[in-house]
Amino acid sequence: MFRRKDRIEIKTPAQIEIMRAAGLVVGHTLEALRQAVEPGVTTGQLDEIARDSLATHGASSSFLGYYGYPAVICASVNDEIVHGIPGNRVLNDGDQISIDFGAIIDGWNGDAAITVSVGSVVPEFEELSRVTQASMWAGLASAVVGGVLNDIGTAVEATIRSAPAGASYGIVQEYVGHGIGSKMHMEPNVPNYAVKGKTPSLVDGMALAIEPMVCAGSANNRTLDDEWTVVTVDGSRACHWEHTVALTADGPWVLTAIDGGAEQFAALGVRSPASSRS
Ligand code: MF3
Ligand code: CO
Repeated sequence: MFRRKDRIEIKTPAQIEIMRAAGLVVGHTLEALRQAVEPGVTTGQLDEIARDSLATHGASSSFLGYYGYPAVICASVNDEIVHGIPGNRVLNDGDQISIDFGAIIDGWNGDAAITVSVGSVVPEFEELSRVTQASMWAGLASAVVGGVLNDIGTAVEATIRSAPAGASYGIVQEYVGHGIGSKMHMEPNVPNYAVKGKTPSLVDGMALAIEPMVCAGSANNRTLDDEWTVVTVDGSRACHWEHTVALTADGPWVLTAIDGGAEQFAALGVRSPASSRS
């Protein structure tokens, strides 16, 4: 009873095209934000850049007003895992900032996140970000019609654990990826780890946000008094990478990547419609 609401939303090709438009707004905006990050910049200034970009592209924010969220980006610095609220915080040399951003075009959402180094970051933490990003790409590469949802979390987890320091990294359990489309957060949950039991089949027309959050130490976390910012309990650094991917008969299409994932999928030997289209 009432299960229809909980079903996974399947998009038509035309709806995927609109999601691509939203995804490109996200991709281009995150690229502008990446270039704007430097010592002395505040997280609030980054939010302003993202607001301007939404206006320029005629898009609206997936985040602003979402359960009362007050900004268009999440800006999570160092031991902040996710959902940091932008404001007066000044970025310093050696920091890492995860910037999460979502845009809506004609009611369809795109959602992605990047982790950016501020000035020069110690190799240990550059590696944490590299591994987190690689685990996201392994998950995106597993978003293949004919597979099952658990293929994604299995690939994400395996990539993290097989990294040189991966055995000691913490994989956040409480926050996971998600279905996305006419809403930002939809069924199904997309864990960043393998789960037991049967999981949904991956079918043509699904869209998923895959977003590993990986900590240099323990993944135990708590939420600050602002009721949003999630930090590691042990103070260890965390990185967060995210893309929105559409599952098509021709393979995964990364809607929030400017090249659709073409370069990464070519390197991974994954068939994708991104290579033959914009
Ligand atoms: N984009 C985040 C996610 O990846 C959610 C942000 S919460 C919000 O799922 F309140 F900021 F919107
Ligand atoms: Co998301």
